[in-house]
Amino acid sequence: MFRRHRRLRENKVIRGMVRETYLHTSDFIYPLFVVEGTNIKEEISSLEGNYHFSIDRLHEIVDEMREVGVRSVLLFGIPDHKDECGSGAYDDNGIVQKAVRKIKELDPEMFVITDVCMCEYTSHGHCGIVHDHHVDNDETLEYIAKIAVSHAKAGADMIAPSDMMDGRILAIRDALDENGFKNVSIMSYSAKYCSAFYGPFREAADSAPQFGDRKGYQMDPANVREAMLEIEDDIDEGADIIMVKPGMPYLDVIRLARDRYDVPIATYNVSGEYAMVKAAAKAGLIDEKRVALEMLTSLKRAGAKMIITYYSLQAARWIREER
Ligand code: PBG
Repeated sequence: MFRRHRRLRENKVIRGMVRETYLHTSDFIYPLFVVEGTNIKEEISSLEGNYHFSIDRLHEIVDEMREVGVRSVLLFGIPDHKDECGSGAYDDNGIVQKAVRKIKELDPEMFVITDVCMCEYTSHGHCGIVHDHHVDNDETLEYIAKIAVSHAKAGADMIAPSDMMDGRILAIRDALDENGFKNVSIMSYSAKYCSAFYGPFREAADSAPQFGDRKGYQMDPANVREAMLEIEDDIDEGADIIMVKPGMPYLDVIRLARDRYDVPIATYNVSGEYAMVKAAAKAGLIDEKRVALEMLTSLKRAGAKMIITYYSLQAARWIREER
């Protein structure tokens, strides 16, 4: 006797009944790039279908998000001015702060998450304060905390530090609490790898390091036990949600984190993952819709709850079609 697995694959209804993993539009977080200037909606060449928006045109994307049911946004700012200490990042009139206020004005129920990092704001492109070509961890923490507080002041619901400095969650939690933002949550880029999959993003955000690389602070792609230590520390320091980034090449990390920890897990389906699917589809090699949905489903199956993806809006439309 052998088991007839195919019985449960006979038709759509039974396949639906036994399906273990579903994508929901509420799982998606949409990364959005905001620039200074006016009347700008410019396609990002490295991330087809995604745009740089100036503040005065944000209503277009906010309306679109509402229309497709994506209710959560992760904001990145591209400032006009960069300096050694990334002062644009904690300016109360900085690009992200203005964008947060605008989005909350346009749609008070939009859940606004801000990426907290210095690389888009520093002239050297590193994620912290640099001395002798080395990013100073503890000095950077003071800046990171200051940036987080200024985002919270502008109205951010959640802070997402992506710098990979040690002790940043504790520094941010303390600073938020001291400034009256006890209810602003933290999603930590806990296991953020030093990945070549960020290429298209660095073009979109103009944040490539001007010398060296990020190996001194981001994680070695070869390590998984180290990721568990990073996650454990972030939970201890007060992270509400932990993240594994990138997504698809690190499904094992997501799974292990899911098995070990009970905090919600997010994953970032990064720019390179998106761009690969786009490019292959364009070359006529794959079916974009099926591959994209399969990729996103695999992230949930591995154990992620939330998915930060450039496919958010498109996937929301596809999911709606399927119904
Ligand atoms: C750093 C940051 C990066 C990404 C998100 N936040 C780039 C980096 O670490 O170099 C990458 C996201 C993507 O590739 O989609 N602020």
